[in-house]
Amino acid sequence: MNQERKRHWDGVYDRAAETRLGWFQETPAISLELAEIAGLRANTSVIDIGGGASRLIDHLIGRGLHDLSVLDLSRNALDAARRRLGERTEEVNWIASDITLWSPTREYDLWHDRAVFHFLTDPDSRAAYLSRLDRCLGPGGHAIIATFAPDGPETCSGLPVVRYSPDSLAETLGGRFTLLTHRFSLHHTPGGKPQSYQFSLFRKDG
Ligand SMILES: C[S@@+](CC[C@H](N)C(=O)[O-])C[C@H]1O[C@@H](n2cnc3c(N)ncnc32)[C@H](O)[C@@H]1O
Repeated sequence: MNQERKRHWDGVYDRAAETRLGWFQETPAISLELAEIAGLRANTSVIDIGGGASRLIDHLIGRGLHDLSVLDLSRNALDAARRRLGERTEEVNWIASDITLWSPTREYDLWHDRAVFHFLTDPDSRAAYLSRLDRCLGPGGHAIIATFAPDGPETCSGLPVVRYSPDSLAETLGGRFTLLTHRFSLHHTPGGKPQSYQFSLFRKDG
């Protein structure tokens, strides 16, 4: 694990409650909408990459899904989510790992990432991420990837990011992934700052 990255993110979750973090959402409405378009059902297997303390998992449990995984390099983030979920935590497979170093052992139907891929500013990290994405999805699998949009901030949590349009993200993912649809969204941080995101839904074809 990249210790510097881990220290950064553990510190972030140590210092602030999840509801005070810039990316906090009570209801991840666009993620849920795109997951529905991807054909979300009770038996859909979902992995939330860099899920942190996100409430997406609560909503998926609430919809009756039972094959759910959350990966994050910060144990503090996963602990915050576990504390919130209480006994429902047993319904989730928690993976403490850096996505660029992780060794997946199975496939999933749906890969979700909100505000993680955009931190990968060097080509080697992006390639490592994309090889995990490729290994985790079989043909017909879906990926929702949300990043800051071209008119979004240049940093997130004090770290530089790469901003994407749906088209530039599609180009980065390569020809095996078809961009099915996208949404632009203005997120307001708990402090009231607007941040422009794009959410893209992809299907893996071959
Ligand atoms: C901006 S937060 C977004 C959290 C969550 N996806 C959400 O939308 O609420 C980024 C998250 O990605 C995690 N993260 C950052 N880099 C990562 C990496 N290389 N591998 C795994 N997780 C990472 C952080 O610990 C943090 O929880």
